[in-house]
Amino acid sequence: MSEIVFIGMDLGTSRTSITTSTGVRTTVWSYVGYPKDHVAKKKMGGRDIIYGEEALQNRLALNMFRPLAGSSIKRKGTKDTAETKKAIKDLLDYVVSLAKAPKDATIYAIIGAPAEASVEGKATILEAAAESIDSVIVTSEPFCVAYGLGFLDDTLVVDIGAGTTDLCRLHGTMPQPEDQRTHEIAGDAIDTLFASLIKEKYPEAQFSINMVRQFKEKYSSVSTKMDEAVVEMPVAGKPTKFNVTELVYKAAYSIVPPTVAALQDLIATYDPEFQAKMRNHILLGGGGCQIKGLGLAIEKALEEYGGGKVVTVEEPQYAGSNGALKVALDMPEHFWKEFKSQRPGAG
Ligand SMILES: Nc1ncnc2c1ncn2[C@@H]1O[C@H](COP(=O)(O)OP(=O)(O)OP(=O)(O)O)[C@@H](O)[C@H]1O
Ligand SMILES: [Mg+2]
Repeated sequence: MSEIVFIGMDLGTSRTSITTSTGVRTTVWSYVGYPKDHVAKKKMGGRDIIYGEEALQNRLALNMFRPLAGSSIKRKGTKDTAETKKAIKDLLDYVVSLAKAPKDATIYAIIGAPAEASVEGKATILEAAAESIDSVIVTSEPFCVAYGLGFLDDTLVVDIGAGTTDLCRLHGTMPQPEDQRTHEIAGDAIDTLFASLIKEKYPEAQFSINMVRQFKEKYSSVSTKMDEAVVEMPVAGKPTKFNVTELVYKAAYSIVPPTVAALQDLIATYDPEFQAKMRNHILLGGGGCQIKGLGLAIEKALEEYGGGKVVTVEEPQYAGSNGALKVALDMPEHFWKEFKSQRPGAG
């Protein structure tokens, strides 16, 4: 029998990370680009598909896709176009290739998806993975995060990504739909709000959404004692400094009220005997949990509802994929057999 390679994958709107049983741990920005014409293709060394950060840097020469954003995987009720499906498939094929599995290995993967992933979303993932993975199980992403850290009892996980903030209540079993909430105020929404605040206050400044995201990743804070955020943006081509402290605070804080409302809802609808335990065990993950002071700000906002304790995961980038790998390694063999794909050749 051939070797089995297990992959834990966090298929994210902005980044896709894998942790594998072969010891690979890597992350790729979830961008796929196709050269616009033959000149672009020559510039890209004759390649037909460019991935990740390289695609972003060469975006002017490429037809760009950030295929998870707004796809059925991230948003219920969406119908994926053939182009989106192809870009998701190309991204998955590429990410799986990074696992460097032997050619004849059998590949089993757990792919984390938003807590409330729709039937269409799961179908899109399974279709995209059919040629690169032998058996795929799509699992709630926040569940993977908690499983990886061994927090399975009376825990609330909040995964703040780019496209969505996913919340999930854990109580020792696989979470059910009623244990999960998703809202769309996450990293991208903060970027959009931050950009509009900059435009309003400094109409002369020139910037792209990419620059705004970089400013946010450097300075975002919801702490009352935050550092000054001074950034450089061109004005009619001339580099100029702007103070955006208040603006980045306001944009980052926009995530707090909807997250606290969702947390409170998950707590209030839980068994009353265990509510206190749950509210004192809130776990923040996802790239957005790196907003400075976020845990404290959520604790403060929860005070009027009876308080809570928030801890932030240590490795936001890999907490999801590490956990997914752990789920994969603990999954009984017969489950994998049930989800066999049509992958040709291996296995
Ligand atoms: N230091 C930071 N401060 C604030 N936000 C950050 C920081 N680092 C990354 N982010 C934001 O985190 C988001 C990405 O998080 P993550 O990689 O968990 O998302 P994702 O899994 O790709 O998205 P989703 O879960 O919505 O599909 C982006 O919006 C990014 O700008
Ligand atoms: Mg995510």
